[in-house]
Amino acid sequence: MFNISPSLMCADLLKMGAQVRELERAGARSFHVDVMDGHFVPNLGLNFDLVRQLKQMTNAQIDVHLMVEDPGAYVDKFQELKVDSVSFHIEAARAPLRLLRAMKAAGARTGIAFNPSTSIETLHYVLEQFDYVVVMTVEPGFAGQKFIPTMYEKIQDLRETLDKIRSGIEIQVDGNLDADTSIRCIQCGATTLVGGSSSVFRPGKDVFSAFTEFKEEVSRACKRQPTIQLAHARPEAEK
Ligand code: DX5
Ligand code: ZN
Repeated sequence: MFNISPSLMCADLLKMGAQVRELERAGARSFHVDVMDGHFVPNLGLNFDLVRQLKQMTNAQIDVHLMVEDPGAYVDKFQELKVDSVSFHIEAARAPLRLLRAMKAAGARTGIAFNPSTSIETLHYVLEQFDYVVVMTVEPGFAGQKFIPTMYEKIQDLRETLDKIRSGIEIQVDGNLDADTSIRCIQCGATTLVGGSSSVFRPGKDVFSAFTEFKEEVSRACKRQPTIQLAHARPEAEK
């Protein structure tokens, strides 16, 4: 049905190890690690030392989201750390297929990420070669932003495009995924939710309960209504 990948940049950085353990206990099978260089986005995220330590403490998948100007500069790191999956931005890739080949040679499942204003057509000639696609539902770089409502239509259009070429390609959505936005994203065709500050890492709530309740609420709603057909007019801005 769908996966939830907790976004560790939203964790309590002073308690991250314990939170990872609690999230594994709650059923998390992958963790989303945002790596930023301060150039592609005006922020610095997590780093490869954290990835190394995570690999030593958990068998869960480590999914690195590269928000960097030069993703090709990090391929050796992925080989060394045996990162399970990594996505890079089409906006930062001068030769995305060459980079894809290098990342796969390093043993990583490879995804292509694109920003809210980047069209699906931009990926047209390379899409089918990737293992997954990351639809940014906020502008990249910061947690705690507001979901961009036109992304529902983008997810639905992407799902239709992918189902024509190779339906096994996963759609990961990333940014302000609370229960409402998550349900709608799944109904539009998303398969992996990045769980950040509006779902898994909520102030004053333990992560085990937050993850469990979030997963149950989304599961219940999507069992009742697995898909929706958006009206062709843009959905009204609800958020
Ligand atoms: C933002 C990151 C996201 C972020 C999600 O650039 O890619 O993974 O951590 O945080 P929320 O869920 O608060 O938008
Ligand atoms: Zn991310």
